[in-house]
Amino acid sequence: MKEFTSNLDWSKYNPKFLEHIINTKATTLGLEIILKIQPKKMMEVGIGGSQFMEQLMPHYQGEYVGVDGTASFIDYAKKKNIPKTSYVYGLMGDVEAPVVDLIYLRHVLEHNPDLEKSVEWLSKHTTKHVLVINFHDWIDQDETIRVGKRGISAAKRSKNFFVGTFQKYGLELKEDIELPDKGIFERILLFSK
Ligand SMILES: C[S@@+](CC[C@H](N)C(=O)[O-])C[C@H]1O[C@@H](n2cnc3c(N)ncnc32)[C@H](O)[C@@H]1O
Repeated sequence: MKEFTSNLDWSKYNPKFLEHIINTKATTLGLEIILKIQPKKMMEVGIGGSQFMEQLMPHYQGEYVGVDGTASFIDYAKKKNIPKTSYVYGLMGDVEAPVVDLIYLRHVLEHNPDLEKSVEWLSKHTTKHVLVINFHDWIDQDETIRVGKRGISAAKRSKNFFVGTFQKYGLELKEDIELPDKGIFERILLFSK
């Protein structure tokens, strides 16, 4: 895998910037899977504009913890004043966070250069499930790409490497569903202990 400089500084972006790609078939299915599991406590890593949290909370009965390495996104989410939510500002891999029953993360892992460090942290912070949504081809090839004009670095990984890293930390692949929608080829993966 080629080296790349990770770009975790999203502070230049307005939290609304991802709204146009939030309502995809994969996010809808992700929401349905979470509601079916009904974890007592769940965490989302990389909340971005917190649109997913807003859609989830009217239907979800448990507690929600949102983690993001961008302070302005955490402030934006807090201002929504949604009951049963709390927030942690910091980076997956480093930050102290509660242990939950399910962790959800969409388009986050590819922006972190050390997959192993991220997955080790995820495994430590969940008792049962990790639900990942990523672009399909970012799990198909080992290389680095630059995404769009903003030049955000992202790592493509082979499926064996990706799934193997989760297995190494006790998380087995239970579902792998490809869901192309709106010109975005997403894929949803459920890992469980
Ligand atoms: C591409 S955006 C995705 C946002 C949202 N999940 C969505 O689907 O619209 C990536 C988000 O992950 C956050 N992020 C990236 N790496 C992170 C890390 N290691 N820990 C916490 N947040 C991270 C960024 O600040 C940003 O909010």
